[in-house]
Amino acid sequence: MFTSTENLAAKEINPLKSLDVWEDDVLERYPDPASIATDKSTEEYRNYDTPERDTVREFYRLNHTYQGYDFVLDKKANYLKFDKKEMPVWDAFQFLNQLVDDSDPDTDLDQFQHLLQTSEAIRRDGHPDWMVAVGLLHDLGKVLCLFGEPQWAVVGDTFPVGCAFSDKIVFPEYFKNNPDFNDARYNTKYGIYKPNCGLDNVHLSWGHDEYIYQIAKDYLPEAGLYMLRYHSFYAQHREHAYDHLLNEHDHEMFKWVDLFNPYDLYSKNPTPPNWAALKPYYETLVAKYLPANIKF
Ligand SMILES: [Fe+2]
Ligand SMILES: [Fe+2]
Repeated sequence: MFTSTENLAAKEINPLKSLDVWEDDVLERYPDPASIATDKSTEEYRNYDTPERDTVREFYRLNHTYQGYDFVLDKKANYLKFDKKEMPVWDAFQFLNQLVDDSDPDTDLDQFQHLLQTSEAIRRDGHPDWMVAVGLLHDLGKVLCLFGEPQWAVVGDTFPVGCAFSDKIVFPEYFKNNPDFNDARYNTKYGIYKPNCGLDNVHLSWGHDEYIYQIAKDYLPEAGLYMLRYHSFYAQHREHAYDHLLNEHDHEMFKWVDLFNPYDLYSKNPTPPNWAALKPYYETLVAKYLPANIKF
């Protein structure tokens, strides 16, 4: 049981009722596949308000206030040691499902169902099996929540730190609270980076994308790694706000990120996949690409 003060603190750290509220909100912003590569959707999105939206706003206020350059480097130093837990990927999916809030009647699909629906939609369209594996794994980095990270350090749109925050990022007004906003090292167009230096040299805000990328980077083709690493980087893959940091190779590879994004956003379906029937296929697939145990 939480005391009321602890409850308040928990709410301040984790304003969303569940992590899915963030993804539902992205879907409101980019409501259909046809809105890919248009720039009007973000504008329209800024113009409505609902109580649920207030929790999303609070979520981004925290995210934009605390995700600065030093914060990201700290998180990388901590988590990229991979000394938290070692387990088979199947245990990790179960672990991830602890995120489901049973008291929430809207959450009828758990985290694993979302992964499976994403991978099944990719498979139905005949894409290579490594991309099916990407669909299955892409949100596994959300286990960060279970290591005690607040929601705003796990999910949410990602963006570069170490250079000026783009006004194409959702709720850009909250970056005024970020310590980097008034720091002359970080608040110019390029900040610490060189023009078109390539995203591999750029630090993005910390969350489940970078974490699963780092976990999977020795096991999947580069196109799949781009999908994992940049799937929440809406400011680039939808808004093209950071073309000045991408190099030619990134531009080429972002075609894969664009290919992946609709499967993540639009594959949600009220009918759960038949796991018993699918299990043999996925066991073989996971064994093909991943080691028996994964280090988190
Ligand atoms: Fe994700
Ligand atoms: Fe997802």
